[in-house]
Formats: sequence, structure tokens, C-alpha cells
Amino acid sequence: MCGITGYTGMLNAKDIIVEGLQALEYRGYDSAGIAFCSSSGSSNKTITIKTVGKVSNLASKLASENIDTHCAIGHTRWATHGGVTETNSHPHSCGKVTLIHNGIIENYHELANELAETGRYPVSQTDSEIAAMLIDSLYDGDPHEAIRKASERLIGAYAFCIIFEDRPGSIYSVRCGSPLVAAYCEDGAFVASDIVAIIEHSKDYFVLPEHHIAHLSSEGINVVDYAGNTYECDMLHVSWDIAAAKKGGYEHFMLKEIHEQPDALLNTITPRIINNLPDFDEDGVPDSLFTGINRVVITACGTAMHAGMLGKLLIEKYNRIPVSVEIASEFRYGNPILDEHTLVITISQSGETADTLAAVRLSTELGAKTLSVVNVKGSSIARESDYVLYTHAGPEISVASTKAYTVQLSMMYLIAYRMAMATGKLSDSEAASRVKGLLKSIDNMKRVLKYDDELNEISKKIRKVENLFYLGRGVDYAIACEGSLKLKEISYIHSEAYAAGELKHGTISLIVDNVPVIAFATQENVYAKVISNVVEVRSRGAYVILVTSAGKRVDTTLCDHHIILPAMDEEFTPFCTAVILQYLAYFTAVRRGLNVDQPRNLAKSVTVE
Ligand code: AGP
Repeated sequence: MCGITGYTGMLNAKDIIVEGLQALEYRGYDSAGIAFCSSSGSSNKTITIKTVGKVSNLASKLASENIDTHCAIGHTRWATHGGVTETNSHPHSCGKVTLIHNGIIENYHELANELAETGRYPVSQTDSEIAAMLIDSLYDGDPHEAIRKASERLIGAYAFCIIFEDRPGSIYSVRCGSPLVAAYCEDGAFVASDIVAIIEHSKDYFVLPEHHIAHLSSEGINVVDYAGNTYECDMLHVSWDIAAAKKGGYEHFMLKEIHEQPDALLNTITPRIINNLPDFDEDGVPDSLFTGINRVVITACGTAMHAGMLGKLLIEKYNRIPVSVEIASEFRYGNPILDEHTLVITISQSGETADTLAAVRLSTELGAKTLSVVNVKGSSIARESDYVLYTHAGPEISVASTKAYTVQLSMMYLIAYRMAMATGKLSDSEAASRVKGLLKSIDNMKRVLKYDDELNEISKKIRKVENLFYLGRGVDYAIACEGSLKLKEISYIHSEAYAAGELKHGTISLIVDNVPVIAFATQENVYAKVISNVVEVRSRGAYVILVTSAGKRVDTTLCDHHIILPAMDEEFTPFCTAVILQYLAYFTAVRRGLNVDQPRNLAKSVTVE
């Protein structure tokens, strides 16, 4: 939440910062601001310009100013402390210090009281301004020392880019919890919350280690620990191209990302198939990870947690060991019972979700083994887990997760199969046949991607309603949960997902004439049961959209729309039903005239609790 970036070098820093902020806008879009060094003769000044609203507002404001600077920092905000006002927008300044911040300073109240005694009072309601005041109070000409001392006092999560008025051309960065990557190339030195802000200039970058200070200048980037020792950071390389982070002719990133799913699946699955069998050798995940356990806990947030729900069903089906799925924010404070025989699997697109990261840390502390399924290379969750399986979805820009979700699903299949092979519960030939089915599901997904007109048509009805229900059992219930979240998230229509059998224990009272019910009935063992539940809602006037496998003869009076999946092994229907729920949410939001890629109040990467 919040995107921050800094640049120093030969190019026009204003342009670089605006471009970087545009790329980071998915992280927050309440307000934006920039600060830059302006020198005339021997005097240096830091100038700050801010606007409420999107980065485009800031760009318009800057267009009318004649700014020639080679060193600047910029911020796009997702408001936490203090409302959406220009005063609360970043950058924040105090004395010689100007900074941008991503994260939350938990003890800002206490620090503010102490700083008042030194005559420093904030003008904003933000925790970030207190950090600027604190660093200024500790600054006597040595930036490293001031930052080090400040970090001893700050409690919470932070990534800062800081400029000191008497150090023109220099940016200092430090982080704890919140992400920061940096790169140096012939264009200059860059720092940002995410590589997407830098990739136009460099595909090689490094993750700034926590509690280290990076000093960026036009000559390079110097990283030191708090004791002043130089630190050599491991370089990473982005394999995708800048085009992947652009809309490429689609109206919205979400639509583009929905269509990228077959490729994302192929890129994620095929490197893990050796001799037709699932194989994690290249990932460095040994079979011994799966043999010494008697329990699995899957923990994640939001969409990633929904992928985990499918993971539970698959792992239990093939391995017959208990699996629980825990919401990371509950798990971390829930006093969980874990030991060395527990495998904790965390799932995260960003790899930076604060609650999921805390779940990894807690699991490690309690002696469990940790395996993460992560999309962003080098992210905190990936680095702090014992083992990591990277999904290869490429950058996901739309706040609503689509391709990151389906590649997470694919990883659940691979883990379930490999685990069962390792424990002797799945023969090689059976595993090979499962893998074949998994690969085939990519073609089936391509077929369902052609259902767009049909689903767009259905969205005409949905766009007008206030409430909606998703129903399913087993695998279809896991999918229903994701369908409901996706719709709420971007169309602002209230929706609930129900395990179909549970509906009559209360919620059926909400089913009245014309309330849409989207029912998934793709699994043979519960097909008749789901159909009975559909009959129940239908007889109470529901507007029913029924999704079934191919070859099912459905009474036409039972539903208003019958969506039929391509013929396939029912184990793999989630890849197709996922597309259906994504399209429904997408077309509904578009018809309601909403900002599909940047829904209100949300941010892509939730780095606060
Ligand atoms: C999904 O559309 C949401 N944007 C959200 O639920 C997301 O999946 C969740 O915040 C977890 O994010 P992560 O995968 O980056 O950890």
C-alpha cells in the first residue's frame, strides 16, 4: 500500500518519477506527490508538490511548472493515517529532511509527544510526518547516523526514501517490513516499491535488505548495514518485458490479465514437468519436505486463500493427511499449534502481504517447515520461507487478482501430486495421467475464454442488483468464494458465497424474486445435491445462472442461463469456472461504469495489518 520511488542521475528526474508513479499506482491512488532538489549557486532547496487524487492530477500540475531536476522522490498514497488531503499527502518535510513512506509507524503518537518537547509539531495527521520529524531531530550532518538512530525508535513497518536538503543529488533508502528494490544503470540510480517502476530502465535489480541503508547518487548505489559495513546485494533479473506491465491494447489490465492466463499457466506448470511427472528439483524443494509431515496448514489472504481452499481438497484427496486453511490475519493471532511435523504453505501474489508474512515468521518460530507459493521474485515471503515455488504469472497490475489466482491453483495440483508421489500414495503412471489432465485444462480454459459474449450478456442483469449469491459444494464452493470476492471487489455489489447445503440454515431467507444465484454444479458426487439446492432457490424466485459440466441434461425451467463447460476431467473444472467468475465480475463492473483496475478503497499489495 502506497508506492514510492526515487531517482538520481543524468535524466530529468521529474519525468522519471511521474512514469514510475504511474506504474506504481495500483498500490494506492488517493493522492500523489513529488519532492526534488533545486540548486542555485551554493544554495539548495527541496521543493515539494502534491495533489489529491490520481497520479495524472500530479502530472497535470507539474506540466505547468518549469522543473529541471536530476534528483527526486515520489509517492502515490493509499491513506491509512489521516484523510485524503493535500496536507496528508507525501512527501513530508521537517527541517532539512524530506521523505516518502510506505508502511505504518505504530508508535507515532508516543514519538509525536516526545518531539513536541523539541519544538517540532506535525502539520498533517500522518504517522509518516512523525518519521520525518524524528530523523530531522537526529540529523547533525550524517544521514546514515540519523537514519540508524531513527530506526532504533521506530516501531512498525516502513520503506523510506529520504532526501536531505544539504545533500543535493543523494537519496537515502531504508526498509523494515515494506518492500524496496533498487537498480543502477547508465541512466542513473533508481529505487522503488516494485520493479515495475524501474523496468523501463533496468531489468537487473536487487532487493534492499531490511535494516540496511542504500545511498543513491549519480555515481552508483552504496548499501551498508547499520554498523557501516558495505553489503553486496544479490542481483535479480526480471524475465518479463516492459510490455507485460502495459495494457497492450486491452481496455483494462484486468481483461488483459484474464486473457494472459493460458500462458501464465503454461509458464508455471511446464518447467515443473520432467519426464511427464511433477518435479520440484529445479526449485530446490526436496521430497523429504513432504515425507516427514503429518499435517499441512495453508495460510494466505483473500484470493490467495481461496486458492488454498482448493489446495486443501487436493492434498487431502491424494495424501490423506489433514489440511487446514487459515486466514493469515486470524492465524497469526490465533495461537496456532504447530511443530516440526507441520508443513505450512503460504500463498501470495505479491509476497509482501503483511499478515501472510507474519504467518511465515510465526510458523518458523514455532518450528514448522514453510513452503511459499509466490509470484514476485525476491519478495519478503519468498525470502523468509524455507522453500519457495514461484508462480510465473508475470506482473499483475489490476487490483483484482485473476492470472495470479489460476497459477496458484495450478501449483496446488502440482504440490498435491508431488507430495503423494513422495509418500508413495500416487504411482508414476497415475501422476503422469494427472499431469496430462492439468496441461489439457489450459486448452479448456482457452475455450471458456470465448464465452465472453455470453457472460457480458448475463452481466446486463447482474449490474442492476444489490445482492447476489454464489453457490457450490466442495471444489465448487472454493470457486464460489472467489467469485463472490471478485464481484464485490470491483462491482461493489453485495454478494455471498455459500456452501450450497448451508443455505437453508439461514441465508435462504434472503432469496426473493429476482435475486441472482450463480450455482456451480461441476462435480459428479454432489451434482444432484447442488441441483436440489438450485430447485430450492428457484422456487423462491431466484434468477439462476447454472454452470454445469458438459453432457448434463438440465430442466430448462430450473435456470435463466445454463453455462456448459467443455467436456473434461472434473478435477480440472476450476480453471474454467475461474474464467466465468472473472468475466462476470469484470463485465458487471464495466457496465456499472466503475474503475475496474483500481476499485475504491483497495490497493494491490496489502503491506499493513
Ligand atoms: C484479490 O482480487 C485481492 N486483490 C486480494 O484478495 C489479494 O488476493 C490479497 O490481498 C492477497 O494478496 P497477495 O496474494 O499479494 O498476498
